[in-house]
Amino acid sequence: MSKTVVVFQSKYGSTQKYAEWIAEELSCHVFQRKNIKSTDLESYNTIIYGGGLYAGGVAGINIITKNFDKICNKNIIVFTCGLADPADKENTDHIKQSINKVFTDKMQNKIKVFHLRGAIDYSKLGFIHKAMMAMLRKMTLRKDYDSLRSEDKEMLDTYGQVVDFTDKSTIMPIVDYVRKL
Ligand SMILES: Cc1cc2nc3c(=O)[nH]c(=O)nc-3n(C[C@H](O)[C@H](O)[C@H](O)COP(=O)(O)O)c2cc1C
Repeated sequence: MSKTVVVFQSKYGSTQKYAEWIAEELSCHVFQRKNIKSTDLESYNTIIYGGGLYAGGVAGINIITKNFDKICNKNIIVFTCGLADPADKENTDHIKQSINKVFTDKMQNKIKVFHLRGAIDYSKLGFIHKAMMAMLRKMTLRKDYDSLRSEDKEMLDTYGQVVDFTDKSTIMPIVDYVRKL
């Protein structure tokens, strides 16, 4: 079987949970992004990278983009972990738009992207993230509610609460995709 690794960057734990579930299912190595050197990636045939979504960006994704020339002959899978519901195409289109700002055309053609749903506990957010969410809420409240995207409506409706959408079964499309490679 081909050698597979899961690498992740997770601030509050949801991406880590998914990364560990995927690695367990595929019986492969799993590393936090900060604990793996980019040169180590070259010893794997399949690289799965997972990062939390922050203001549309995938945390730590530059481990893939910066090293793409060295790993572009491998299978590369990226999964995002965010609050927005990936079952809603409006949300996945929005994430895709953000990702495509950092992926070249070659990366877009090569990298298979999946979206998983994370969690938030406002009481546990760091100072900067708390301030970012408060600002986002303030800006969103200024807009007409009915014109908002569903993820913004949901943010307003659940602001300040503990929300957890992590679900082990949602890793299966990724696991099945990798098993078929
Ligand atoms: C400051 C901030 C910005 C965020 N931006 C987004 C976003 O753009 N899209 C999204 O779906 N979720 C967003 N989220 C929610 C996180 O992606 C979610 O909490 C995720 O589970 C984080 O994963 P992690 O804890 O593994 O880093 C944001 C959260 C914070 C605190």
